Amino acid sequence: MLKNKRVIVGVCGGIAAYKVCELVHKLKYAGAEVSVVMTKNACEFVTPLTFQTLSGRPVYTGMWKLLTKEEAVVEHVDLAKNCDLMIIAPATANVIGKLASGIADDLLTTVVLGAHTAAPVYICPAMNTNMWENAIVQDNVKKLKKFGFKFIGPASGKLACGDSGIGRLEKIEEIFLQVMKEK
Ligand SMILES: Cc1cc2nc3c(=O)[nH]c(=O)nc-3n(C[C@H](O)[C@H](O)[C@H](O)COP(=O)(O)O)c2cc1C
Repeated sequence: MLKNKRVIVGVCGGIAAYKVCELVHKLKYAGAEVSVVMTKNACEFVTPLTFQTLSGRPVYTGMWKLLTKEEAVVEHVDLAKNCDLMIIAPATANVIGKLASGIADDLLTTVVLGAHTAAPVYICPAMNTNMWENAIVQDNVKKLKKFGFKFIGPASGKLACGDSGIGRLEKIEEIFLQVMKEK
């Protein structure tokens, strides 16, 4: 199903970012062309080099790099145009909030705004239970669902902070299986 599909994986600054390395690996071995876009804060959790090595492709971490003549495209527009499927994992409360408000102040949120009308965008939230259950976050999720964003998870269980409850990133295998169903 994913053979030759151009998949963008958007990685946000949450502790579950390390799990998404496995997702990128699985997508690549399923035949997808995977481009990873990381927020600045995601780079505090996992290095771009890890995703570059796993995807076998450049990793995008910002908008302001000067490009060579060969690369000279408007990167956020180009990425969004050449995308069959987008997965945001882990999706932080912050990025969910920004998307729900139409804010595009970094490469990831800008690409999502450009891609979302043309390609399915899956959001895989991960955060502490209190954050997830916060009425503002829930309102943002509702709004994004209304606009056609698809959500996978979060799951319940033990959280990185030591609490137990809803907020874990859905199992990578489950995320993979759900996006595989996308035609
Ligand atoms: C150790 C640590 C773990 C964090 N884990 C999460 C998380 O799982 N989910 C979340 O929404 N925010 C988490 N945060 C807070 C985000 O990093 C913070 O809101 C940041 O602004 C998110 O940036 P981004 O959405 O641009 O990637 C964590 C912060 C720290 C220091």
